[in-house]
Amino acid sequence: MSDAYQDDRGNKDRSITRPGGGSARPVAKGGHASPAEASAFLVGEAMTGGYGKGPDILHDCTIAVDPGEIAVIVGPNGAGKSTAMKAMFGMLDVRQGRVLLDGEDITALTPQDRVVRGMGFVPQTQNIFTTMTVEENLEMGAFIRRDDFRNTMAQVYDLFPILKDKRNQAAGELSGGQRQQVAVGRALMTQPKVLMLDEPTAGVSPIVMDELFDRIIEVARTGIPILMVEQNARQALEIADKAYVLVQGANAHTGTGKELLADAEVRRSFLGG
Ligand SMILES: Nc1ncnc2c1ncn2[C@@H]1O[C@H](COP(=O)(O)OP(=O)(O)OP(=O)(O)O)[C@@H](O)[C@H]1O
Ligand SMILES: [Mg+2]
Repeated sequence: MSDAYQDDRGNKDRSITRPGGGSARPVAKGGHASPAEASAFLVGEAMTGGYGKGPDILHDCTIAVDPGEIAVIVGPNGAGKSTAMKAMFGMLDVRQGRVLLDGEDITALTPQDRVVRGMGFVPQTQNIFTTMTVEENLEMGAFIRRDDFRNTMAQVYDLFPILKDKRNQAAGELSGGQRQQVAVGRALMTQPKVLMLDEPTAGVSPIVMDELFDRIIEVARTGIPILMVEQNARQALEIADKAYVLVQGANAHTGTGKELLADAEVRRSFLGG
């Protein structure tokens, strides 16, 4: 990990954030939405639900993110991090609770409709079309757009210059870190109002991870709120304006990244002391 991440690295540039947004709150336990969460830009509020007719995986789980923020979900394998993301994106049944986007209840909308409303989602697996070229992947990302998306593609290439070099190469031939750039770039092609990333740094080296984090911070600074699941808990908390520890489908700890990094129980249980 580079030293750059040691020092309060999150997206703290408040000039682009909404006034009053993202204020620090004490580390909270339990899944009940605080008033700040209830009015957040994207919130999965007290979500309970599971897959098909199966048992509940999420239990009264609340996740929220505001403009200018990077919100991070961490927790052990199988904790329900991906399930929480999928619930917010409309890929599973939310039996209790609701999902709000910019104050509007979107709980009943399909994933496609949520994309139209401004949600971008990069799933944990199978997040690119491996046989298509990099550029075709980005074009696929623009599928909902009827306008000229060349500007957005240029922005994606500015953000990830390697993708421009490799634009005519099959995405499946790229390295792990480059594939993740394709996946994030594809999601950006819809010009999302909020971006959800499930383990964007999975399987990449520490250096590539730092680079990806830098790019993610850059995206957040353009004002797009980012909700991200991360396996690298310590590094994720260092860049998080807001963080959620999930355990067995429920909120175990909530606070700013800094607060959770300083929390003795979080350190002992999730950060190796
Ligand atoms: N498609 C599915 N159908 C049924 N159960 C599922 C499905 N996907 C996940 N689960 C179950 O939901 C629980 C939570 O899984 P989930 O993938 O959300 O965990 P996670 O926190 O993202 O884990 P990881 O860190 O390994 O990615 C697990 O018990 C898992 O077996
Ligand atoms: Mg997962």
